[in-house]
Amino acid sequence: MKQRFLVTGGAGYVGSHLVAELLDRGAACVVLDNFCTGHHEAVLPGARLIEGGLADADLLDAVLADGPWDAVFHFAARSLVGESMRDPMLYFIENAGNGARLIDACVRHGVRRFVLSSTAALFGRPSTEPLAEDAPIEPGSAYGESKHMIERMLTWADRVHGLRSACLRYFNAAGADPGGRLGEDHRPETHLIPLVIDAALGRRDTLEVFGDDFATPDGTAVRDYVHVADLTDAHLRVLGQLEQGSVAYNLGTGRGHSVLEVVRAVERAGGRRVPLRHVGRRPGDPPMLVASSARITAETGWRPRFTVLDDIVATALQWREAHPAGYGIL
Ligand SMILES: NC(=O)c1ccc[n+]([C@@H]2O[C@H](COP(=O)([O-])OP(=O)(O)OC[C@H]3O[C@@H](n4cnc5c(N)ncnc54)[C@H](O)[C@@H]3O)[C@@H](O)[C@H]2O)c1
Repeated sequence: MKQRFLVTGGAGYVGSHLVAELLDRGAACVVLDNFCTGHHEAVLPGARLIEGGLADADLLDAVLADGPWDAVFHFAARSLVGESMRDPMLYFIENAGNGARLIDACVRHGVRRFVLSSTAALFGRPSTEPLAEDAPIEPGSAYGESKHMIERMLTWADRVHGLRSACLRYFNAAGADPGGRLGEDHRPETHLIPLVIDAALGRRDTLEVFGDDFATPDGTAVRDYVHVADLTDAHLRVLGQLEQGSVAYNLGTGRGHSVLEVVRAVERAGGRRVPLRHVGRRPGDPPMLVASSARITAETGWRPRFTVLDDIVATALQWREAHPAGYGIL
């Protein structure tokens, strides 16, 4: 029988790429999304779309009752660190509160496997690199805290109800569908690679570089950019792992790149210079965030296929050049 999956937030950046992969593999996919940051064009025609929010308990109940589900993938969330520090309760209501509602509906309707989009923001200001799963969890933002709350709820849902879960802590998701069908279009955009590309394409005047005095080789902040297709692959591999029990994995390439290295990679790929403006550090920005993905590699065989920054950037640039206004019309 055809496998069948529910994907919350499947109209967003990472979720839409997973939906595409599931459809490519012949699975049936239901997307639940309220389009607060998602795009209709990002939901490929083979998926069934239910437009609505996780705060609607009756809707959740009706959706989950329409099983059986081979797994639920939970991408839907607010994920702006700065916004979460201005309005932390919004994040606890939207991320933690809606997470509780969704997990509860999953338990009541007999879902056995749940995959959460978690985040490196759990780790705040890490003192060791690369970061393994046993690094201290000390979120530096309400956003990170809200994701940690969902991870904790999932621990209880397993302990009490046997709902198996995988918490996948992405570092910096990057790149676009290598087939060119989907890309990255957050509004507002806060992610470095699309911002650099827009500066290179003349869609913004300059790229603001936050901080040039970090203790890193060129003074700019270092992050671990993991290709969205590799994230998708990890989501599918962990499903098998859940037979053994619930898991939490850090997901990155294990290699860090500074802001200036990303700028140079975009300049190489696009053949254009990126105008820069150096400004102060953002409060709470750690100098470096690099994942150790040794655990998921050992337990599931996952390895990133995109290990070269230029290749990651090339897929993002390809999509942006083909879609200068992103999804839809600005
Ligand atoms: N992009 C990254 O680098 C990154 C890094 C770490 C973790 N994450 C996590 O991965 C997930 C996906 O990130 P993304 O970059 O694709 O974000 P995104 O904003 O592109 O996608 C989120 C999707 O969820 C939907 N949504 C939000 N709240 C909803 C609600 N209450 N009800 C229904 N739908 C709702 C949005 O409309 C959107 O389609 C998020 O949970 C995010 O916290 C992302």
